[in-house]
Amino acid sequence: MPLVTLKEVLDTAYREGYAVGAFNIIDLEFLEAIVLAAHRKNSPVILNIAEVHFPFVNLEHIVPVVKEIAREEHFDMVLNLDHGLTMEAIERAIANGFTSIMFDGSHLDFDENVKQTREVVKMCHAVNISVEGELGAVGGAEGGGLVGKADPSKYTDVVQAKEFARQTGVDALAVAIGNSHGKYKGEPDLDFQRLKAIRDAVAVPLVLHGGSGISAADFRNAISLGIAKINFFTGMSEAAIQTTTSYVQRIGTQYNDYPMMMKEVKESVAAVVAEQMEIFGSTGKAANH
Ligand code: 13P
Ligand code: ZN
Repeated sequence: MPLVTLKEVLDTAYREGYAVGAFNIIDLEFLEAIVLAAHRKNSPVILNIAEVHFPFVNLEHIVPVVKEIAREEHFDMVLNLDHGLTMEAIERAIANGFTSIMFDGSHLDFDENVKQTREVVKMCHAVNISVEGELGAVGGAEGGGLVGKADPSKYTDVVQAKEFARQTGVDALAVAIGNSHGKYKGEPDLDFQRLKAIRDAVAVPLVLHGGSGISAADFRNAISLGIAKINFFTGMSEAAIQTTTSYVQRIGTQYNDYPMMMKEVKESVAAVVAEQMEIFGSTGKAANH
């Protein structure tokens, strides 16, 4: 199947009450691990490539592989630019055939965020690409690496969210309700009342960034309150490092063991992704739009 748009998979998920995981690719290994999990779980999947990861993954090299995998597989696959910050990155993603763009204007003031997001929406919708916007600021730094806590003064404002969605025409809205990128400092404390109010005020599916570290119960609650896309990366990175460390401890540094180690790494990342798909409720929803 060809790649599908974010709007196609999220509208169904939102209506039916499950969420589709958006997992970050940083190389071919992570791509194959995510695909393995989606294949085994019969689940739709969103492949994220974050602008901060551009130094690690060559878009022009990996996107043809993504498209070929999509053609061979039976489940819906979306290719999403994660946290697009610059016009250069957005134009490069569009030129490469991405089917979704997240424009992250969360560092801008409200009016400027509306203005720039609206321009991205206009440009993308003209060529049938979905757009995710962000209002309020998710804690931590995308790409993981930091232990963070969300700043309540940057949580998404309900009235602004309604205006933002209306004025920009985004297909999905990322919210800040206590979620944070990277590892959480202490237990995540999500503001579900705020999420419910945003869901009631905004017509489009909502997105939860900073998925790693959030409990299954919190995910289920968030999904029941309008979250239809969940971004998840740090947990995969953690699994890969743990598997590598334990492999080296077990086997030593024999040079010809690298392929076997990478096989284990891939399986461990696939297991983490598959577990999330179960929790998000997307298993068995392979092509459901
Ligand atoms: P985590 O790395 O905290 O799971 O967040 C991922 C994310 O939000 C990517 O955009
Ligand atoms: Zn994010």
